[in-house]
Amino acid sequence: MRITATDSSKALTSTPLLAVLASEDETPALPRGVRIPAAAKKDFTGKARRDRMTDATAGPADRVLLLGLGKEPGAEELRRAAARAVKAARKLGLSSLRIHQGAGSVKARGGAAAIGQALAEGAGMGAYVYTGGKSKPKTSKLSRCVLAGPGAGFRAGVRDGLTLAEANVFSRDLQNQAGNQLTPRALAAAARSLSTRSPRISCRVMNEAAMKKMGMGLLLGVSRGSVEPARLIHLVYRPRKKAKRKVALVGKGLTFDAGGISLKPSAKMDEMRYDMSGSAAVLGVFHALAKMDVPVEVHGVVPSSENLADGMATKPGDIHKAMDGTTVEVLNTDAEGRLILGDALCYVRKRVKPDTAIDLATLTGAVVVGLGHEISGMYATTDDLRDRLVAAGEATGEAVWPLPLLDVHMRNLRGGPADLRNINQPNIGGGSIAGAQFLHHFIGDDIEWSHLDIAGTAWGAEARDYVGGRGGTGVGTRLLMRYLTGLK
Ligand code: BES
Ligand code: ZN
Ligand code: ZN
Repeated sequence: MRITATDSSKALTSTPLLAVLASEDETPALPRGVRIPAAAKKDFTGKARRDRMTDATAGPADRVLLLGLGKEPGAEELRRAAARAVKAARKLGLSSLRIHQGAGSVKARGGAAAIGQALAEGAGMGAYVYTGGKSKPKTSKLSRCVLAGPGAGFRAGVRDGLTLAEANVFSRDLQNQAGNQLTPRALAAAARSLSTRSPRISCRVMNEAAMKKMGMGLLLGVSRGSVEPARLIHLVYRPRKKAKRKVALVGKGLTFDAGGISLKPSAKMDEMRYDMSGSAAVLGVFHALAKMDVPVEVHGVVPSSENLADGMATKPGDIHKAMDGTTVEVLNTDAEGRLILGDALCYVRKRVKPDTAIDLATLTGAVVVGLGHEISGMYATTDDLRDRLVAAGEATGEAVWPLPLLDVHMRNLRGGPADLRNINQPNIGGGSIAGAQFLHHFIGDDIEWSHLDIAGTAWGAEARDYVGGRGGTGVGTRLLMRYLTGLK
């Protein structure tokens, strides 16, 4: 489906479906000449997500969909409304639709640019269907969505919204592929293809021999039980103007996590195809950076591996050495994300030397217990980074919640036969914190750092019209883009 922007003051041309936004207690502002039955007007209250479809009685639109936005709607309600309009058009088998935002209530909804962006994000993300597993994917008749709004600001907003929606969809497409489709090598190929989309993006992929040279014993230790070779991906984005800051984004790229010798139960094990969701978010950011300028140098680092069990696999109790020389006793081979990220964070610290590092990982089942599927766990070493990520979460609908880095979890990683263990012993609970503190050791205290535990939010979230329900959510991509665009 192609999404385009037009000025809402222009005369309306014929359309099979006209969708009109209205908040509570506001009469829907229909474009000139469009009439609908009195009953439809009466039924419609503007309450959030109480939409009303009707035939038009006059004017160039065949049907009119009144979209309820509720009281004082923000970007999230607009995203959701646009997605519902697209879904309604598709369900009816229509070839196109038009979503209309008149000149009224622009200020109350955050301005023309913000409205354009939210509508484009919602329409673009809402149109997504994953068909990568089908031999004969059904094609939708819906080929065009016109977003009509006031002025050049609206058009610019639509452009940004489209870039962000496409990046989200790119990241969901990576997530949704089966474990035998998206291997570490396939993920590396996807990263490489991103560097061909912009001269400002470059990509380097390192193989196991290169990892061995750098001393990445943790990443290699996870990959041992697998025939598919591991990869370390390093993407770089250099902005138009000279950058004052350098940010590293690190994503867990476990293309399948069976747990290794500490094998997972078989129920729902297929979901561990999503254990590369952190890397999908990082690659999604670079998809957006190919079209959208941010004022900082951005590095994307993705350690990618499978976690399987064969005769070569790491056994509980085995000791491996990280790139920075730290020895780690692998007490549970299913706590593998922190191992591959440990080496990736050493790499970031030694080779990239950023001002800020943010990692995203489907790291622990514990965070799903603690926070559920609608909000990601967030750890940050500075208040500024914490506040920026919370604000970005609120703006994008990809909420994050601050959790504490407690000393006791760091202490409980020590005391075994190696420098560190990969799980807390004794187990004192707070499993997400323990995972975060393990990572903390490898990034150190000199670099501002945040860890996002996205195990709950990467998939399994409640359906929100444009995202959620079945499949991956692409969480992280829009969040990080929002964070990056806000930097100076
Ligand atoms: N990929 C899992 C975490 C996970 C579990 C994500 C369920 C989403 C849903 C991770 O590698 C893992 O297995 N973590 C273990 C750690 C434990 C052994 C300390 C976990 O959370 O059970
Ligand atoms: Zn695991
Ligand atoms: Zn995992």
